[in-house]
Formats: sequence, C-alpha cells, structure tokens
Amino acid sequence: MVGELFLSAFLGLAFERLASIDIVTFFRGGKLKDDLLKKLEIKLLSINAVFNDAEERQMRDPNVKAWLDEVKDAVYEAEDLLDEIETEVYKTKSESEFENTSSKVRNFFTNVSVNPFEKKIESRIEDVLNKLEFLANQVELLELKKGSGIGGKLSQRLQSSSLVDESSIYGRDDDKNVLTKLVLSDNGSANHPSVITIVGMGGLGKTTLVQLVYNDKRMEDHFDLKAWVCVSEEFDVRRVTRAILEAITLSNDDARDLNALQVKLAEKLMGGKFLLVLDDVWNENHSPWEVLRNPFCYGAPGSKILVTTRSERVASTMYSAEILHLKQLSEEDCWMLFAAHAFNKGDPLANPRLNVIGKKIVKKCKGLPLALKTLGSLLRTRLFLENGKVF
Ligand SMILES: Nc1ncnc2c1ncn2[C@@H]1O[C@H](COP(=O)(O)OP(=O)(O)O)[C@@H](O)[C@H]1O
Ligand SMILES: [Mg+2]
Repeated sequence: MVGELFLSAFLGLAFERLASIDIVTFFRGGKLKDDLLKKLEIKLLSINAVFNDAEERQMRDPNVKAWLDEVKDAVYEAEDLLDEIETEVYKTKSESEFENTSSKVRNFFTNVSVNPFEKKIESRIEDVLNKLEFLANQVELLELKKGSGIGGKLSQRLQSSSLVDESSIYGRDDDKNVLTKLVLSDNGSANHPSVITIVGMGGLGKTTLVQLVYNDKRMEDHFDLKAWVCVSEEFDVRRVTRAILEAITLSNDDARDLNALQVKLAEKLMGGKFLLVLDDVWNENHSPWEVLRNPFCYGAPGSKILVTTRSERVASTMYSAEILHLKQLSEEDCWMLFAAHAFNKGDPLANPRLNVIGKKIVKKCKGLPLALKTLGSLLRTRLFLENGKVF
C-alpha cells in the first residue's frame, strides 16, 4: 500500500523536476526531438489522474494490480532518466563554468553536432513513452475513474507572504549569509537599484531563503522601507505596481490608472533606501519590467530588489546584478526536515524498519524541501491510520 501511495507522490515530484529550468535550458536549442519531455509529462499526468481509483481497486481486481505494477516500473524508469539528465546537466554546467571564456566558442560547435548522450537519452525517453502510452490506453478498458492523484498537490502553489517560522527551517545558514551580505552591500552606483535573483526549481526553498533574509534584524536598520510582493501569475504592470504600493503603505489603493499609481509609488520611494522582494516571477519579457521599474530610480542608492524565479531567463530579463543558483539541502538537513514531519520523537529509534524506509524516501526526494515535507507528512498520516501496525 505504502509503495503506491509514495509512487503517486513521486509522480508529483517528477512533474516539478520536469518543469525544472535546468533541464529545459539544456534541451532548448532544438537538441531534443520535439518536446519529448513535455510528452512524458502529459502521459504521466494522465496516469496520475486515475491513480487513486487504481490504488483502491487493486485489492479486488488483479488486472488493476498488474496495471499498477507496470506503471510502477515505468515511473521508476522515468525517474532514473531524470536522474541521468540532471547529472548530465550539472556536469555540462560545471564544465562550461570551468572553461569560462573559451566555452562560448566551443559551445557553438557542440551545438551543431549531436551529443551522444542526447541521442541515447532520446531513445530511452521514447521507450518509456511507449510504455506509458500503452498503459494510458488501458485506463479505459480497466474503467479507471479520474480524480486527482496525490502527487498533483505538489504543484499546487500558494501565494507567499514575508512571514516564516524560523524554528522549522533546516540548513541554509551559508546561503543566508551570502545573500544577506549581498543585500547589505552598498556598492550600487547607478540610479537603478540592483537586482539580486535567486534561481531554482519549484519547492527548492527560494521563497523560504528570501524570507529568512528579509526578516533579519539588520534589514530594519539598513533600509528605510521594505516591501514583499508575491508576483506568481501574470506579470501585469498595473497589478504589480499597485501591489508594491499597497505593500509599502499597508493599505488598499483604489487608483486605476498606471500613471497615478507610479507617481504615488515614486513619492513613497523618494530618497529612501528600500528593499523590495518580488517573489516567484515568471515574466521573460523586457518591456513590462522596464515600465515597472520606472519609479524605482527615485529610491536612494543601495536600494535592492530580491527576485525569486524558476527561470534563468527571468534573471537576465530583469538585468540582475547577481544571480544565485540555490542548491539542494544537505543530506543531513534533509533527514532532519523529513523526520520532523514524518515521526513522533523516538519513532525511528523504536522501529528500525521505519528508519530504513525513511532513509529510502529521503533519498528519492533529491534534496527538495517541498518533497521532503509532503512525503514526511504522508508517512505520518499513513502510520497514524494504520495505528501502530506499521505496514
Ligand atoms: N530549509 C528548509 N527547511 C525546512 N523547510 C523548508 C526549507 N526550505 C523550504 N522549506 C519548505 O518547503 C516548501 C517549499 O519551499 P519554498 O521556499 O516555497 O520553495 P520555492 O519558493 O523554491 O518554490 C515550503 O513549505 C517551505 O516551508
Ligand atoms: Mg517560491
């Protein structure tokens, strides 16, 4: 039972990973045959949709059980593929960082030829796709009903606010120090505030890191004004401008006109050193950003804008002075975070099997805090439901 439950959650994790920007950038430039990864995602989604029903029915229906077993294999295969792609992306990245300037020339040539890794991975993705296709076709025959699979929850994101419960956060000390230093540094000379962008896939902890820095006491002394805006959806200049204004004044503003809003915002910012957070930005076009940032030059030098995004492109769109690539949590922090959600104090000591299972799950979470939290809580509810009888 637990196997299937987690499998479903891993499907959710796979969607986050598929959306991961690194992978997308790697395969951009037409290297990977038409949107193979997108197709993989769609197939996984369609199977995920009938997951709950299949899980319930497998006890009664051996055909459903057989179907689930095959799905399991295919999903694990897809996971392995993602692992390999991510490793390759990482390798290519550190190589090109190492090669530095000469890499531009070299990349130009490697782009032209076909990388053997991509060829190989391409045919394996096709294999997995065929399997999933075959399994998806059986959904109707088995009369599996659509509902939402558990994994889908991983992608449902809420709006963020600046508040954070620091006692529940693990690790990130170094990241926090680096970012705090950058935010407090006063080397910006231009009249536009410098933009610092945190890039990383969904659920990695970008928002959390920025919350930690934003709430650091030193910010109060250093800045005259602070504002937190969750951008998330569409990058509508008027909506975002109003949100910034309201975040500064902590009151509603009913001005409809962009000009009125921008003039008011400029007045508020006038001569003050401000820290603005734009959380979860997706916009990859220069023009809206250029309009949005007009009022910002009224602030004092040393003002900073902190941006979080999944996309490297967003970072360049916003003319970031600094780009931080957030890394996965360390192994030790992963375990602590997971254990805090999964177990009551002492559980893993009393039950060594739990410890083993827990370790396996943590390994699958790839250092993603969101996955660790979700799977940890799932394990706890499942343990609770089975009331002492641990699978
Ligand atoms: N270092 C951490 N320790 C504990 N929980 C974390 C940590 N980083 C993130 N989380 C939790 O994981 C979830 C996703 O983090 P979030 O910052 O929203 O990710 P992102 O902004 O990169 O999508 C949140 O529920 C957050 O509380
Ligand atoms: Mg976020």
